[in-house]
Amino acid sequence: MWNPLWVLGPWLLLLLLQLADGSMEAVVPSPSVPSFVTNPLLRTGYHFQPPKNWINDPNGPLYYKGWYHLFYQYNPKGADWVNTLWAHSVSRDLINWNVLGLALEPSIRSDQYGVWSGSATILLDGTPVLVYTGIDRPDTPYQVQNVAIPKNKSDPLLREWVKPDYNPIIVPDSGMNVTQFRDPSTAWHIDGQWRILVGGEKGSHGQAYVYRSTDFKHWVRAKHPLHSAINGMWECLDFFPVLMQGKKGLDTSDQSGRVKYVLKSSLEKARYDYYTIGTYNSRTERYVPDDLNGDYHRLRYDYGKFYARRVLVGWANESDTVPDDIAKGWSGIHAIPRKTWLDPGGKQLVQWPIEEVEQLRRKSVSVTNKVVKPRNHFEVKGLETYQADVEVSFEIPNLERAEPFDHAFSNDAQKLCRMKGADNKGGVGPFGLWVLASANLEEKTAVFFRIFRDGHGKPVVLMCTDPTKSSLGHDLDKPTYAGFVNADVSSSGEISLRSLIDHSVVESFGAGGRTCIISRVYPSIAVGQNAHLYVFNNGDVDVKVSRLKAWEMESSKMNN
Ligand SMILES: *[C@@H]1O[C@H](CO)[C@@H](O)[C@H](O)[C@H]1NC(C)=O
Ligand SMILES: *[C@@H]1O[C@H](CO)[C@@H](O)[C@H](O)[C@H]1NC(C)=O
Ligand SMILES: *[C@@H]1O[C@H](CO)[C@@H](O)[C@H](O)[C@H]1NC(C)=O
Repeated sequence: MWNPLWVLGPWLLLLLLQLADGSMEAVVPSPSVPSFVTNPLLRTGYHFQPPKNWINDPNGPLYYKGWYHLFYQYNPKGADWVNTLWAHSVSRDLINWNVLGLALEPSIRSDQYGVWSGSATILLDGTPVLVYTGIDRPDTPYQVQNVAIPKNKSDPLLREWVKPDYNPIIVPDSGMNVTQFRDPSTAWHIDGQWRILVGGEKGSHGQAYVYRSTDFKHWVRAKHPLHSAINGMWECLDFFPVLMQGKKGLDTSDQSGRVKYVLKSSLEKARYDYYTIGTYNSRTERYVPDDLNGDYHRLRYDYGKFYARRVLVGWANESDTVPDDIAKGWSGIHAIPRKTWLDPGGKQLVQWPIEEVEQLRRKSVSVTNKVVKPRNHFEVKGLETYQADVEVSFEIPNLERAEPFDHAFSNDAQKLCRMKGADNKGGVGPFGLWVLASANLEEKTAVFFRIFRDGHGKPVVLMCTDPTKSSLGHDLDKPTYAGFVNADVSSSGEISLRSLIDHSVVESFGAGGRTCIISRVYPSIAVGQNAHLYVFNNGDVDVKVSRLKAWEMESSKMNN
């Protein structure tokens, strides 16, 4: 089985995303003049989405009888975030999808005012269970946790779900904030007991509340939270083991082999997700991050528009306006599912698009050993690049000319990137790709590296996506995103980049997936066949493209 992670439910549930400083200054278009963003050529071709309407979090992914099931927060009535419930799609390969009917709608007392995010767990006898947050009062979003089970376990498509009469299974205790108590995690089973996490907030501390059960019906809260930290409400918690060696995924209950644990939460206020890596003791029911400052020096699944829950699928919202979304009739996509494993250094996760996406690769072109001089660029010609997959390796010259690194930016890659941009001349870099670029480059999105040197001469690698020039003359939300890349370029002399381009999304993986950035961009000229792909170097020294391969991507079957 190629992706054990899925089997176990590990996934990302992206909720909302906020992009630091990504203030929206978009002009609300008058309804009679459809904005350029309603151009159907900006609709993605192989990223997950329903035929129309609003989506956000992926919910409860599971693998059952040969099918991948994906549920997601969905508004059946429009392209805005109102009355979301659980829609349901199935796939054989996580790339081509068929839409089924709605899986969960408000129907019982304890979810009559909302069916919010949650997870799936496969019980010991093979039965899948969905656990989700229900809203049970009209005035305040008072939050309780419910379960649903398949009506017919013989149906591989799990089309119908029933809500047992012992719902809700978990209600907030007195003293808890009843409006900050949601998004149950996938459960794990150790020594005869199930555990589940529910996210909360106490004072300004995010809480990972642990509940335990032997029968999956009666749940009792453990005395202490699994972990907590002073950074506000924790949404969409995930908790799962990763092997210390190798790329194989593990079941959430698997404790064999040498493992570390990953705890991920989505910060309601900051609007992004982060994770720590640490150890878990099932007797004390505590998790301790390896880096005790890890809750503050935040590692992120993705440094772009990615607000998620467990490994693999994230939600990216639009960067246009709500009226535009309503005019175009859709809003939100999911990232390409990502395989996730622990980096051999043990300090971070690595993510890579699942190999199934490569079935969409068609015509390709290659470039090898091509030197790009300072302030120079070249076009990758011979294919359409509005729907493409590009892999490139850069050979880096010696780092003598690298700019000195200012440690004031150690925790703020995004700010450094915003200041330095793709067009500001540097020492070693900026170099990288211009994607969704117009023929004479007045529109372009840069995905690039810029390499600095710290006081000891050690390289500091910054990776950025800069969409500030992506739509000429249009005032959209165009934040730059950035992260540092934990890759020793001085010993390898190389750094790689992969970008999945899909009309209005650019999803990039630096250094084999050590740093990932997903960004929405809306070109107004570089759309469809007018989109071009370039390699650029705005540094002071030559950079060599040791190899580049780009493929046109076919559209996948997407819920139609
Ligand atoms: C997408 O999310 C960002 C951050 O939460 C928000 O500012 C923006 O309004 C959202 N866009 C739409 C179209 O909902
Ligand atoms: C349950 O699903 C199986 C497989 O799809 C089907 O053959 C059977 O008729 C279903 N049973 C009921 C009661 O719907
Ligand atoms: C619960 O959380 C909400 C949202 O953060 C906050 O406005 C409210 O004051 C909190 N209530 C209590 C009792 O802490």
